[in-house]
Amino acid sequence: MDRDSREVYIRCEDLFKIHKIADLEVVALRGLDLKVRRGEFMAIVGASGSGKSTLLNILAGLDVPSAGRAFVGGQDLLTMSRQDMVEYRRSRVGFVWQQTGRNLVPYLDAVQNVEVPMILAGVGKAEARERATALLEAVHLQHRLHHRPQQLSGGEQQRVSIAVALANNPPLLLADEPTGELDSVAASSVFDLFAELNHDFGITIIVVTHDPDIAARVDRVVAIRDGRTSSEIFRRIRHEGNQAEVVHDEYVLVDAAGRLQIPHELLERLSIRDRAKVLMGEGHLEILPESVTREPR
Ligand SMILES: Nc1ncnc2c1ncn2[C@@H]1O[C@H](COP(=O)(O)OP(=O)(O)O)[C@@H](O)[C@H]1O
Ligand SMILES: [Mg+2]
Repeated sequence: MDRDSREVYIRCEDLFKIHKIADLEVVALRGLDLKVRRGEFMAIVGASGSGKSTLLNILAGLDVPSAGRAFVGGQDLLTMSRQDMVEYRRSRVGFVWQQTGRNLVPYLDAVQNVEVPMILAGVGKAEARERATALLEAVHLQHRLHHRPQQLSGGEQQRVSIAVALANNPPLLLADEPTGELDSVAASSVFDLFAELNHDFGITIIVVTHDPDIAARVDRVVAIRDGRTSSEIFRRIRHEGNQAEVVHDEYVLVDAAGRLQIPHELLERLSIRDRAKVLMGEGHLEILPESVTREPR
Protein backbone atom coordinates (compact mmCIF):
# COMPACT_ATOMS: atom_id res chain seq x y z
CA MET A 1 0.00 0.00 0.00
CA ASP A 2 1.13 3.55 -0.66
CA ARG A 3 2.81 4.91 2.47
CA ASP A 4 0.65 8.04 2.63
CA SER A 5 -2.72 6.33 2.22
CA ARG A 6 -2.61 4.40 5.48
CA GLU A 7 -4.27 5.65 8.64
CA VAL A 8 -2.07 7.56 11.10
CA TYR A 9 -1.75 5.20 14.06
CA ILE A 10 0.63 7.16 16.30
CA ARG A 11 0.57 10.92 16.54
CA CYS A 12 2.88 12.92 18.83
CA GLU A 13 2.68 16.70 18.71
CA ASP A 14 4.89 19.11 20.61
CA LEU A 15 5.65 16.39 23.13
CA PHE A 16 7.65 17.27 26.24
CA LYS A 17 9.09 15.05 28.93
CA ILE A 18 10.92 16.47 31.90
CA HIS A 19 12.57 13.94 34.19
CA LYS A 20 12.88 15.23 37.76
CA ILE A 21 15.50 13.80 40.06
CA ALA A 22 15.45 15.65 43.40
CA ASP A 23 15.92 19.33 42.43
CA LEU A 24 17.33 18.55 39.01
CA GLU A 25 15.22 18.72 35.87
CA VAL A 26 16.31 17.00 32.68
CA VAL A 27 14.36 17.85 29.53
CA ALA A 28 14.44 14.58 27.59
CA LEU A 29 11.84 15.50 24.94
CA ARG A 30 11.45 19.11 23.87
CA GLY A 31 8.57 19.55 21.46
CA LEU A 32 8.82 16.29 19.57
CA ASP A 33 6.54 15.71 16.56
CA LEU A 34 6.06 12.25 15.06
CA LYS A 35 3.46 10.45 12.97
CA VAL A 36 3.53 6.72 12.34
CA ARG A 37 1.08 5.02 10.02
CA ARG A 38 -0.61 1.70 10.76
CA GLY A 39 1.50 -1.14 9.45
CA GLU A 40 4.69 0.89 9.18
CA PHE A 41 8.05 -0.66 10.04
CA MET A 42 10.25 2.22 11.12
CA ALA A 43 13.46 2.88 13.01
CA ILE A 44 14.51 5.64 15.37
CA VAL A 45 18.18 6.59 15.54
CA GLY A 46 20.05 9.25 17.49
CA ALA A 47 22.98 9.86 19.81
CA SER A 48 22.91 8.52 23.36
CA GLY A 49 20.80 10.79 25.56
CA SER A 50 18.78 12.24 22.67
CA GLY A 51 15.46 10.97 24.09
CA LYS A 52 14.85 7.72 22.17
CA SER A 53 14.09 5.54 25.19
CA THR A 54 11.98 8.26 26.77
CA LEU A 55 9.81 8.38 23.64
CA LEU A 56 9.49 4.59 23.46
CA ASN A 57 8.57 4.35 27.15
CA ILE A 58 5.85 6.94 26.64
CA LEU A 59 4.44 5.05 23.63
CA ALA A 60 4.55 1.86 25.71
CA GLY A 61 2.52 3.47 28.48
CA LEU A 62 5.41 3.00 30.92
CA ASP A 63 6.00 6.72 31.35
CA VAL A 64 3.74 9.78 31.12
CA PRO A 65 4.58 12.88 29.05
CA SER A 66 4.92 16.26 30.82
CA ALA A 67 3.10 18.20 28.09
CA GLY A 68 1.98 18.02 24.48
CA ARG A 69 -0.16 15.45 22.72
CA ALA A 70 0.35 11.73 22.19
CA PHE A 71 -2.25 9.46 20.62
CA VAL A 72 -1.91 5.78 19.80
CA GLY A 73 -4.74 4.11 17.92
CA GLY A 74 -7.03 7.00 18.89
CA GLN A 75 -6.23 6.66 22.60
CA ASP A 76 -4.90 9.74 24.37
CA LEU A 77 -1.82 8.81 26.41
CA LEU A 78 -1.96 12.04 28.46
CA THR A 79 -5.49 11.69 29.77
CA MET A 80 -5.94 7.91 29.89
CA SER A 81 -7.21 6.55 33.22
CA ARG A 82 -4.98 4.28 35.26
CA GLN A 83 -7.19 1.31 34.48
CA ASP A 84 -7.19 2.00 30.73
CA MET A 85 -3.41 2.30 30.92
CA VAL A 86 -3.11 -1.17 32.44
CA GLU A 87 -5.27 -2.56 29.64
CA TYR A 88 -3.28 -0.57 27.06
CA ARG A 89 0.03 -2.00 28.26
CA ARG A 90 -1.41 -5.49 28.37
CA SER A 91 -2.99 -5.76 24.94
CA ARG A 92 -2.33 -2.69 22.77
CA VAL A 93 1.48 -2.69 22.78
CA GLY A 94 4.37 -5.15 23.05
CA PHE A 95 7.82 -4.13 24.26
CA VAL A 96 11.28 -5.63 23.78
CA TRP A 97 14.23 -4.35 25.85
CA GLN A 98 17.89 -4.41 24.91
CA GLN A 99 18.87 -6.52 27.93
CA THR A 100 17.70 -10.05 27.08
CA GLY A 101 17.51 -10.76 30.83
CA ARG A 102 14.92 -8.05 31.33
CA ASN A 103 12.45 -9.63 28.87
CA LEU A 104 12.39 -13.17 30.21
CA VAL A 105 11.87 -15.01 33.49
CA PRO A 106 15.05 -17.09 33.95
CA TYR A 107 13.48 -20.16 35.57
CA LEU A 108 10.65 -20.52 33.02
CA ASP A 109 11.12 -22.22 29.66
CA ALA A 110 10.29 -20.51 26.35
CA VAL A 111 6.62 -21.61 26.20
CA GLN A 112 6.02 -20.67 29.83
CA ASN A 113 7.59 -17.24 29.28
CA VAL A 114 5.25 -16.57 26.36
CA GLU A 115 2.28 -17.78 28.42
CA VAL A 116 2.89 -15.33 31.30
CA PRO A 117 1.29 -12.22 29.71
CA MET A 118 -1.69 -14.31 28.50
CA ILE A 119 -2.31 -15.82 31.92
CA LEU A 120 -2.13 -12.32 33.45
CA ALA A 121 -4.77 -11.29 30.91
CA GLY A 122 -7.02 -14.16 32.00
CA VAL A 123 -6.52 -16.51 29.03
CA GLY A 124 -7.17 -20.17 29.91
CA LYS A 125 -4.23 -22.57 30.31
CA ALA A 126 -4.94 -24.70 27.22
CA GLU A 127 -5.50 -21.75 24.94
CA ALA A 128 -2.37 -20.02 26.29
CA ARG A 129 -0.26 -23.11 25.61
CA GLU A 130 -1.60 -23.43 22.07
CA ARG A 131 -1.04 -19.79 21.27
CA ALA A 132 2.42 -19.69 22.90
CA THR A 133 3.48 -22.66 20.78
CA ALA A 134 2.16 -20.99 17.62
CA LEU A 135 3.98 -17.75 18.48
CA LEU A 136 7.27 -19.57 19.05
CA GLU A 137 6.77 -21.18 15.65
CA ALA A 138 6.21 -17.74 14.14
CA VAL A 139 9.60 -16.63 15.53
CA HIS A 140 11.17 -19.90 14.24
CA LEU A 141 11.84 -21.45 17.63
CA GLN A 142 9.59 -24.53 17.40
CA HIS A 143 12.69 -26.64 18.29
CA ARG A 144 13.34 -24.63 21.49
CA LEU A 145 9.94 -24.74 23.22
CA HIS A 146 11.21 -26.18 26.49
CA HIS A 147 14.60 -24.47 26.73
CA ARG A 148 15.16 -21.96 29.51
CA PRO A 149 16.73 -18.56 28.64
CA GLN A 150 20.23 -19.60 29.74
CA GLN A 151 20.05 -22.60 27.39
CA LEU A 152 19.41 -20.27 24.43
CA SER A 153 21.74 -18.01 22.44
CA GLY A 154 21.33 -14.23 22.74
CA GLY A 155 19.57 -14.09 19.38
CA GLU A 156 17.20 -16.90 20.37
CA GLN A 157 16.44 -15.18 23.67
CA GLN A 158 15.48 -12.01 21.81
CA ARG A 159 13.23 -14.02 19.52
CA VAL A 160 11.49 -15.50 22.58
CA SER A 161 11.22 -11.92 23.91
CA ILE A 162 9.48 -10.89 20.69
CA ALA A 163 7.04 -13.79 21.09
CA VAL A 164 6.40 -12.66 24.70
CA ALA A 165 5.78 -9.10 23.48
CA LEU A 166 3.24 -10.40 20.95
CA ALA A 167 1.51 -12.75 23.41
CA ASN A 168 -1.70 -10.74 23.66
CA ASN A 169 -1.75 -9.90 19.97
CA PRO A 170 -0.93 -6.16 20.20
CA PRO A 171 -1.12 -4.11 16.96
CA LEU A 172 2.07 -2.26 17.95
CA LEU A 173 5.55 -3.60 18.74
CA LEU A 174 8.23 -1.37 20.27
CA ALA A 175 11.84 -2.48 20.63
CA ASP A 176 14.54 -0.45 22.38
CA GLU A 177 17.95 -1.41 20.94
CA PRO A 178 16.89 -5.08 20.75
CA THR A 179 20.07 -6.12 18.95
CA GLY A 180 22.48 -4.06 21.09
CA GLU A 181 23.88 -7.14 22.81
CA LEU A 182 23.91 -9.42 19.73
CA ASP A 183 26.58 -10.20 17.14
CA SER A 184 25.87 -9.03 13.60
CA VAL A 185 24.53 -12.38 12.35
CA ALA A 186 22.04 -12.71 15.23
CA ALA A 187 21.12 -9.03 14.88
CA SER A 188 20.43 -9.50 11.20
CA SER A 189 18.11 -12.45 11.86
CA VAL A 190 16.19 -10.42 14.47
CA PHE A 191 15.68 -7.63 11.91
CA ASP A 192 14.57 -10.21 9.32
CA LEU A 193 12.04 -11.47 11.86
CA PHE A 194 10.68 -7.94 12.44
CA ALA A 195 10.28 -7.51 8.67
CA GLU A 196 8.44 -10.83 8.47
CA LEU A 197 6.07 -10.04 11.37
CA ASN A 198 5.39 -6.63 9.86
CA HIS A 199 4.70 -8.11 6.44
CA ASP A 200 2.73 -11.22 7.48
CA PHE A 201 0.65 -9.78 10.33
CA GLY A 202 0.64 -6.03 9.56
CA ILE A 203 2.07 -5.22 13.00
CA THR A 204 3.29 -1.62 13.31
CA ILE A 205 6.91 -1.80 14.47
CA ILE A 206 9.21 0.88 15.90
CA VAL A 207 12.81 -0.11 16.57
CA VAL A 208 15.40 2.07 18.27
CA THR A 209 18.78 1.03 16.92
CA HIS A 210 22.39 1.96 16.25
CA ASP A 211 22.64 -0.50 13.36
CA PRO A 212 24.33 1.46 10.54
CA ASP A 213 22.55 -0.59 7.85
CA ILE A 214 19.09 0.01 9.27
CA ALA A 215 17.91 2.27 6.42
CA ALA A 216 18.03 -0.68 4.03
CA ARG A 217 15.74 -2.75 6.26
CA VAL A 218 12.86 -0.45 7.24
CA ASP A 219 10.33 1.80 5.46
CA ARG A 220 11.62 4.90 7.22
CA VAL A 221 14.34 6.04 9.61
CA VAL A 222 13.64 9.03 11.86
CA ALA A 223 16.56 10.71 13.61
CA ILE A 224 16.07 12.34 17.00
CA ARG A 225 18.37 15.11 18.17
CA ASP A 226 18.14 16.85 21.55
CA GLY A 227 14.62 15.57 22.21
CA ARG A 228 13.12 16.43 18.84
CA THR A 229 12.79 14.69 15.51
CA SER A 230 15.36 16.20 13.15
CA SER A 231 15.52 14.28 9.89
CA GLU A 232 13.97 11.38 8.07
CA ILE A 233 15.08 8.85 5.47
CA PHE A 234 12.55 7.05 3.27
CA ARG A 235 13.16 3.93 1.28
CA ARG A 236 11.74 3.98 -2.20
CA ILE A 237 11.91 1.67 -5.20
CA ARG A 238 12.94 3.51 -8.37
CA HIS A 239 11.92 1.93 -11.66
CA GLU A 240 13.94 2.66 -14.77
CA GLY A 241 12.93 0.70 -17.83
CA ASN A 242 12.69 -2.84 -16.49
CA GLN A 243 15.30 -2.18 -13.79
CA ALA A 244 14.27 -1.49 -10.19
CA GLU A 245 16.58 -0.23 -7.48
CA VAL A 246 16.20 0.83 -3.87
CA VAL A 247 16.96 4.49 -3.24
CA HIS A 248 16.93 6.49 -0.01
CA ASP A 249 15.54 10.02 0.15
CA GLU A 250 16.64 12.12 3.12
CA TYR A 251 14.63 15.06 4.45
CA VAL A 252 15.03 17.64 7.20
CA LEU A 253 11.80 17.86 9.22
CA VAL A 254 9.91 21.14 9.54
CA ASP A 255 7.59 21.53 12.54
CA ALA A 256 4.27 23.41 12.76
CA ALA A 257 6.08 26.59 13.84
CA GLY A 258 8.38 26.41 10.80
CA ARG A 259 11.44 25.28 12.77
CA LEU A 260 13.90 22.90 11.20
CA GLN A 261 17.17 21.48 12.43
CA ILE A 262 20.16 22.10 10.20
CA PRO A 263 22.87 19.48 10.76
CA HIS A 264 25.68 20.76 13.00
CA GLU A 265 28.36 19.87 10.44
CA LEU A 266 26.79 22.17 7.85
CA LEU A 267 26.43 25.05 10.31
CA GLU A 268 30.04 24.64 11.36
CA ARG A 269 31.31 24.55 7.79
CA LEU A 270 29.61 27.87 7.10
CA SER A 271 30.37 29.31 10.57
CA ILE A 272 26.65 29.90 11.18
CA ARG A 273 25.99 30.41 14.88
CA ASP A 274 23.21 32.57 16.31
CA ARG A 275 21.62 33.84 13.13
CA ALA A 276 21.55 33.29 9.40
CA LYS A 277 20.06 34.98 6.37
CA VAL A 278 17.26 33.23 4.53
CA LEU A 279 16.77 34.26 0.91
CA MET A 280 14.13 33.15 -1.54
CA GLY A 281 15.61 31.50 -4.63
CA GLU A 282 13.86 30.08 -7.68
CA GLY A 283 11.71 27.44 -5.96
CA HIS A 284 14.13 27.05 -3.06
CA LEU A 285 15.48 28.83 0.01
CA GLU A 286 19.06 29.82 0.59
CA ILE A 287 20.52 29.95 4.08
CA LEU A 288 23.59 32.17 4.32
CA PRO A 289 25.98 33.12 7.11
CA GLU A 290 25.15 36.61 8.39
CA SER A 291 28.54 37.89 7.24
CA VAL A 292 27.67 37.25 3.60
CA THR A 293 26.00 40.19 1.95
CA ARG A 294 23.99 39.42 -1.12
CA GLU A 295 21.07 41.36 -2.53
CA PRO A 296 17.78 39.46 -2.55
CA ARG A 297 16.88 38.32 -6.05
N1 LIG B 1 14.31 8.22 34.62
C1 LIG B 1 15.09 9.27 34.33
N2 LIG B 1 15.40 10.17 35.30
C2 LIG B 1 16.18 11.23 35.01
N3 LIG B 1 16.70 11.51 33.80
C3 LIG B 1 16.43 10.65 32.81
C4 LIG B 1 15.62 9.48 33.02
N4 LIG B 1 15.52 8.81 31.84
C5 LIG B 1 16.24 9.53 30.95
N5 LIG B 1 16.78 10.62 31.52
C6 LIG B 1 17.59 11.64 30.83
O1 LIG B 1 16.84 12.09 29.72
C7 LIG B 1 17.68 12.24 28.58
C8 LIG B 1 17.21 11.32 27.46
O2 LIG B 1 17.42 9.98 27.88
P1 LIG B 1 16.98 8.72 27.02
O3 LIG B 1 15.58 8.89 26.60
O4 LIG B 1 17.31 7.51 27.83
O5 LIG B 1 17.93 8.83 25.75
P2 LIG B 1 18.44 7.73 24.72
O6 LIG B 1 17.57 6.52 24.84
O7 LIG B 1 18.32 8.41 23.38
O8 LIG B 1 19.86 7.45 25.05
C9 LIG B 1 19.10 11.97 29.05
O9 LIG B 1 19.69 13.18 29.39
C10 LIG B 1 18.88 11.10 30.27
O10 LIG B 1 19.94 11.26 31.17
MG1 LIG C 1 18.05 4.53 25.28
